[in-house]
Amino acid sequence: MAIRNLLITLLLLFTSFSMALGHEVGNLGHYPVVVSTWPFVEAVRAAWRAIESGFSAVDAVVEGCSACEELRCDGTVGPGGSPDENGETTLDALVMNGATMEVGAVAAMKYVKDGIKAARLVMQHTGHTLLVGEQASAFAISMGLPGPTNLSSSESVQKWSKWKENRCQPNFWKNIVPVDSCGPYHPKDIAELGKGTCSSANLMAAVESRSSHIGLHNHDTISMAVIDKEGHIAVGTSTNGATYKIPGRVGDGPIAGSSSYADDEVGACGATGDGDIMMRFLPCYQVVESMRLGMEPKLAAQDAIKRIARKFPDFVGAVFAINKNGLHAGACHGWTFQYSVRSPEREDVEVFTVFP
Ligand SMILES: *[C@@H]1O[C@H](CO)[C@@H](O)[C@H](O)[C@H]1NC(C)=O
Repeated sequence: MAIRNLLITLLLLFTSFSMALGHEVGNLGHYPVVVSTWPFVEAVRAAWRAIESGFSAVDAVVEGCSACEELRCDGTVGPGGSPDENGETTLDALVMNGATMEVGAVAAMKYVKDGIKAARLVMQHTGHTLLVGEQASAFAISMGLPGPTNLSSSESVQKWSKWKENRCQPNFWKNIVPVDSCGPYHPKDIAELGKGTCSSANLMAAVESRSSHIGLHNHDTISMAVIDKEGHIAVGTSTNGATYKIPGRVGDGPIAGSSSYADDEVGACGATGDGDIMMRFLPCYQVVESMRLGMEPKLAAQDAIKRIARKFPDFVGAVFAINKNGLHAGACHGWTFQYSVRSPEREDVEVFTVFP
């Protein structure tokens, strides 16, 4: 009798548990799996095809993210989007092997359109983790990637011209003069900032311009996780960064643990959103480490997002989490997030929606 009661209790517990998990259905222990931020369906299909034909997790991630670069997903991945203040497009990308914890990344890379492939070259052919700027481009070209290439498109040039006409608003400057026109900018006397209504008006303006940078059609990043047929995990990220960024800016994209992170022993995470804020928290490192300590993907994702939101209530961002058994979930703040999944029990890519 006691045993029967125990079994019933366990069954009830299990039922309520599965209900609380939401999207985390099915998939337990089933590889391969591909997960990606946003409905970047073609990118997920490309990674899936690679996995099906026997590619490693790392190579499948590169195939998937490359597809997004070629398609210029949302205009915020690959060439031809997100002009900086000089009208130039630069790329940030990262790839990580969760079997070996090797990472390769490039940041603020010019003249080469293959961001994630350049990142893989850094990982496979150097003892370094991150190469930046024109030297990253020179490295990528010397290792056989096509270039130098003009990364601007007529759209990005047009966007930039309009922004110039609009007195370079919005922008990422703060505590500077002039406030409402193009640079050159100079530091504003810090003592002046503390007093008067003028400064709070400026602060509000800064907050408003911040959220106007990242919107529904500016998803800004593909982060992808792949678990291959052997259960090995890899992640990758590719982006052309924030529109109208100050030249030289590097976001969370090429930072391991921020935009993505993987460990075969635990699982993986991918992030998207306001990289300038998110890279201060290494949310994907946190998600993976939380899962290592036994947290469910959903809780781990929510906890990482909540921790940022407590300090930056206006930030916009999201993460997906997947554990090594293929259980996945997402969490977001400031916008509705979607992520895409392809696994053996689905006919095609399925898009999951997560509300803040
Ligand atoms: C790069 O391409 C853009 C858009 O097609 C064009 O306006 C620009 O002049 C090009 N730059 C160079 C250096 O060729």
